[in-house]
Amino acid sequence: MALSRKLVQQRSSVFGSRYMSWWRSVEPAPKDPILGVTEAFLADPSPDKVNVGVGAYRDDNGKPVVLECVREAERRIAGNLNMEYLPMGGSVKKVEETLKLAYGENSEHIKDKRIAAVQALSGTGACRLFADFQKRFRPESQIYIPVPTWANHHNIWRDAHVPQKTFRYYHPETKGLDFTGLVDDIKNAPNGSFFLLHACAHNPTGVDPSEEQWKEISKLIKEKGHFPFFDMAYQGFASGDPERDAKAIRIFLEDGHLIGIAQSYAKNMGLYGQRVGCLSMLCEDEKQAVAVKSQLQMLARPMYSNPPVHGALIVSTILGDQELKTLWLKEVKGMADRIIGMRTALRENLEKLGSPLSWEHITNQIGMFCYSGMTPEQVDRLTNEFHIYMTRNGRISMAGVTTGNVGYLANAIHEVTKST
Ligand code: LMR
Repeated sequence: MALSRKLVQQRSSVFGSRYMSWWRSVEPAPKDPILGVTEAFLADPSPDKVNVGVGAYRDDNGKPVVLECVREAERRIAGNLNMEYLPMGGSVKKVEETLKLAYGENSEHIKDKRIAAVQALSGTGACRLFADFQKRFRPESQIYIPVPTWANHHNIWRDAHVPQKTFRYYHPETKGLDFTGLVDDIKNAPNGSFFLLHACAHNPTGVDPSEEQWKEISKLIKEKGHFPFFDMAYQGFASGDPERDAKAIRIFLEDGHLIGIAQSYAKNMGLYGQRVGCLSMLCEDEKQAVAVKSQLQMLARPMYSNPPVHGALIVSTILGDQELKTLWLKEVKGMADRIIGMRTALRENLEKLGSPLSWEHITNQIGMFCYSGMTPEQVDRLTNEFHIYMTRNGRISMAGVTTGNVGYLANAIHEVTKST
């Protein structure tokens, strides 16, 4: 029987309102500075709109790309895949192949079983797993993060409750590396600090240390007893050659560091949504590596139990087959080369328009991004007046630049920067 109106009112007044106020104090979260740009782009009906926000590769028609090696791997996998759980540490084969990319095909450390490694939920998941490990086993430690860095690094270590410090990295005037600042900050950090380094194609600046500078950084970090943790989200995207892009890591290995590495196949295999990556930590010996790996698995278990299987199988199928691996290497180089070509085109277009500013840094920087030097207000004008979407720190995802939109983009950049 339906409750009378009076009875409902009485009940409401007993409980205060119809619902308990569990979430009344929850405010909407701020938009993500990178992924929020994609949301705004999708909502814009303009036919002229351009998305150079998120770091996701596009072909010269602005379309997402599935690599041919990935398509072929999927054909081979189809029908042979069962849906069982992977182990907590993920696919052993995929992890083995991933370590070879970072540590080298013939790495002594792999042979000596000194590396604790688990499949992770792409680069973000690998960083987060490491941050949680750091908090659990070195609870007093801090993490030194470059200025600037990928915005999510701050969230990751914050949510793992690791206090953050920063070190100088980028010089706004030269639009290059602040090597002196970086060296001073490494020297001045308390001995035994944790340092977050981008292994190649620094995000967001596209500025990497030279080989000589990496050697110097490695030497100083060793002298100070710091722990180097590498985020390697773009292996292959800097030079077009994954082996060359592992140079910084190889220098640190030669110098006898114990290191940690977050690897991702989002960019270099285009497996963005598959969330396939790897966290590895080089340990003193096999016994330590076994212990560290078991603890990494202990962290994964209550968070997500075990990682997804499909992407891992794609990766192990490609890297475990010489023909597919060769095709992959060719395709990575193709993506990197297209981006390098767009850097030249953007710079040339700006110069042709008679821009009074220097745009040399567009071609000096490498990887997926160009750190343009534009101010947040100039970026706002690009968005509001020209429907060009990018992060407010002035980062342009060169992967979204195409033969078709480079002229439009250059013209808009010129319009908002010419009077500065
Ligand atoms: C980026 O920096 O645009 C990418 O790494 C995507 C992301 O998750 O932020």
